[in-house]
Amino acid sequence: MSKPFDAPGYNRDGSIVNPEGRGEFTPGPQHGKARPAPGGPFLIGEAMTGGYSKSGPDILTGCTIAVDKGEIAVIVGPNGAGKSTAMRALFGMLYLSSGAVRLDGEDITDLAPQARVIKGMGFVPQTHNIFTSLTVEENLEMGGFIRKDDITETMQQVYDLFPILKEKRTQAAGELSGGQRQQVAVGRALMTRPKVLMLDEPTAGVSPIVMDELFDRIIDVARTGLPVLMVEQNARQALEIADKGYVLVQGANAHTGTGKELLADPDVRASFLGG
Ligand SMILES: Nc1ncnc2c1ncn2[C@@H]1O[C@H](COP(=O)(O)OP(=O)(O)O)[C@@H](O)[C@H]1O
Ligand SMILES: [Mg+2]
Repeated sequence: MSKPFDAPGYNRDGSIVNPEGRGEFTPGPQHGKARPAPGGPFLIGEAMTGGYSKSGPDILTGCTIAVDKGEIAVIVGPNGAGKSTAMRALFGMLYLSSGAVRLDGEDITDLAPQARVIKGMGFVPQTHNIFTSLTVEENLEMGGFIRKDDITETMQQVYDLFPILKEKRTQAAGELSGGQRQQVAVGRALMTRPKVLMLDEPTAGVSPIVMDELFDRIIDVARTGLPVLMVEQNARQALEIADKGYVLVQGANAHTGTGKELLADPDVRASFLGG
């Protein structure tokens, strides 16, 4: 009897199939339920301590990050400070040995990342944040996949925010410029109609003009009432638009204040803003 693998062009290596039809499932760091936790900021990761594996080193040590409704909160700090790690911790991708994450009156510390998306977290990671081989529109559709209702209106809103994406909607996202790709990534996150938007270095690798444009669009988004938490390398510009700023150093809070306060703080200026 001929097996499908005997057909020309097929991979004869059986290792790519799983004849048993079952496998090991290793749950991620979190796989539990949300619990009521009324009060406090809209999103907060409080006193988060943890790392990328249960037995590995702690990357975050007592780190607290929060954003409230109507605010833009910005995380700045040197390379390797743990900014992306803090975002991942909020999103449920870290093993926390202590601390808690609360969103909109619920303790979500035990929720898996996909459950947090359903609860309203829109997260744009620092890298690999778009599907390069899919068109712009397909990327947006992927963003809307968790929704059961009609996504056309939201897609139109994304196109209103980023008109270039409408123009390029049938083009592969990988063919776009850096700034346009970031718009796709932000648009994809907005398609879920999140309650909070988390952006890890949305302006990485773009020109100053494109950076200003992206910041303007992010301000537009925040003005609609959507809280925005973002990590930024362009510390000075980011703090200028920040209601709240966090300077992280070695996985811990070094300075916290309004954007204005941090910009005026001599220590922050000397150490992180080039004087
Ligand atoms: N996937 C990972 N696994 C293990 N360690 C990691 C991983 N990602 C980052 N780290 C470590 O965590 C620390 C903080 O990194 P990161 O959060 O990426 O810094 P930042 O975003 O502030 O530049 C670094 O020491 C880095 O080596
Ligand atoms: Mg980072």
